[in-house]
Amino acid sequence: MKPKFSISAGIILLLIPYISHSADFLVQPPPLSMDKFYSERGKTSEWIEQMRQISKTLGATLLSMDKKNWGEALKNAQDFGSAYKKAAKMIPEWKDLFDLEASELFIASIQSQDTENIKQFSGKVKKTCTQCHRKNNISVWARYHWPSTQTIKVLDPIDEQEVDYDRFMHRLSSSFKNIEILFGQEKYNEFWKAIDIFSKRLRGLRSVCSKCHVTEWTKNSPSVKDFFVGEDMIDALQEIKKTYASGAPDAKLFKKKMEYISEQSCKMCHLIHQPAAMIQRAWGN
Ligand code: HEC
Ligand code: HEC
Ligand code: HEC
Repeated sequence: MKPKFSISAGIILLLIPYISHSADFLVQPPPLSMDKFYSERGKTSEWIEQMRQISKTLGATLLSMDKKNWGEALKNAQDFGSAYKKAAKMIPEWKDLFDLEASELFIASIQSQDTENIKQFSGKVKKTCTQCHRKNNISVWARYHWPSTQTIKVLDPIDEQEVDYDRFMHRLSSSFKNIEILFGQEKYNEFWKAIDIFSKRLRGLRSVCSKCHVTEWTKNSPSVKDFFVGEDMIDALQEIKKTYASGAPDAKLFKKKMEYISEQSCKMCHLIHQPAAMIQRAWGN
């Protein structure tokens, strides 16, 4: 079975409570009532806190049962029951994706130490976790974990104008293509100039990383900016310049270095950053 990935553009569809076929899988915006749990950037969402709570209490329940500590298991199961119930109330649009009856029966089966029922109802409860995650996590990530590129402006170092991110990409792209075209046309002076223009734009892109990557991994290197727009790209461009310096153009080295930039900068960065931007565009926000 081939998974199908389709995006519904701004259409608000009725929630389908049980997803059984991949054809039903749509990346639609999460319910608006979720916004309030993600209102503070940089702070862990209250929804995530609640998820961690139900995950922890469920884990603790299973662990105490393994140790045949039934008293402790019941207490943990009750904690799980209330955390699960609380989560079910947080987003009204999703209340049907929880199975509160199964969670009550799960607790009751622990109280009566009925292993058959424990198995059945814990299975039912866990299924709700997986089903909801598979159906909704991508939407939630695209909406709350990916800042939008559409509010970002980039200073184009060539004309010193601030342009939209997307517009800047098209400029970056055409200055990259120009290098290849001019190499083919053997227009030596313009070729060098094109490399400088592209090089400036690629460096210019470094200033946008911090609009989303607000905290660096560590105080010391490496920094995010070592990826896709790092010194290795500038070095590759220097090498490209050299392909012409000796008089006869070195087409093989030229191709190799251009491919390096295309794969390690453009492609890699697109693979990471573009899906979220595409989903957001499809939603029209
Ligand atoms: C109705 C939907 C729904 C149900 C049911 C649900 N979850 Fe979640 N859960 C989510 C969403 C959405 C996220 C992603 C939140 C995010 O990344 O911002 C999530 C994230 C999580 C996370 C990751 C938290 C983190 O640290 O990032 C855990 C763990 C988790 N859920 C556990 C569970 C367990 C265990 C159950 C079942 C007992 C469950 N969830 C049921 C929607 C649901
Ligand atoms: C529109 C927002 C946005 C911009 C602009 C952006 N990123 Fe990201 N990037 C993200 C998000 C969100 C992730 C997912 C993981 C995370 O939050 O760090 C990510 C992930 C990454 C990763 C994968 C590993 C990691 O640390 O998260 C790298 C590497 C990366 N970005 C580099 C860059 C570089 C270099 C730039 C600038 C040239 C850049 N990004 C610009 C939002 C952005
Ligand atoms: C910092 C990461 C990053 C780097 C590096 C990067 N891009 Fe992009 N690019 C993006 C993102 C994100 C988008 C989507 C922007 C949006 O939709 O708002 C994009 C969009 C584009 C688009 C528009 C695509 C379309 O279909 O509209 C083109 C063309 C493009 N990039 C070309 C390039 C080229 C060529 C390079 C390398 C020389 C490159 N990009 C390097 C992140 C990057």
